[in-house]
Amino acid sequence: MRIGLLLQLHLFSVAFWLGVVAVEYLIEQGRAQSRSQGFAVASLHRRIDLFFETPAFSVVLVTGLMLIEPARFDGIYALKVIAGGVAVAGNLLCLVPVLRRHAAAERDDLDGVIRQSRLIDSISLLAIPAGLLALACGLYLMLLR
Ligand code: HEM
Repeated sequence: MRIGLLLQLHLFSVAFWLGVVAVEYLIEQGRAQSRSQGFAVASLHRRIDLFFETPAFSVVLVTGLMLIEPARFDGIYALKVIAGGVAVAGNLLCLVPVLRRHAAAERDDLDGVIRQSRLIDSISLLAIPAGLLALACGLYLMLLR
């Protein structure tokens, strides 16, 4: 199976991104242990988003858009592109509560931190399954090559 450079870049950034999301998921599990732990998670998640996740999903989006062949836009192929797009959009949207939560933590506003954490959870509930669906469709398309 030979794959082009653009697709290699897409797959590399997808793998990197999913790894980052897995780490974030684990970090978020510890946020309710204590007030200081919750604030530390808010700061760590913000840095991970700004320095690693946003660059990774930006590369996924740009390479994904460049790979689109309009003539093939049907069935699993279309589902894959749409699911990938929803995953990227969800992560972009998630940046808002992540930044607001960090600002709330800086103000020592625990209620604000909890509110933004719930928003992060709700968006993740849409974005993570969409990402996994895009991955499943993408792997299926690879098998067809
Ligand atoms: C979580 C997000 C994503 C995952 C897990 C993912 C995964 C994959 C995988 C595994 C492939 C390889 C399929 C193959 O070799 O044929 C692929 C290809 C591709 N992806 Fe993504 N992708 C994501 C996001 C996106 C986005 C946002 C777009 C476009 C807006 C996109 C567009 C494409 C296209 C057009 C291909 C080429 C498919 C082909 O030629 O068969 N992907 N992706």
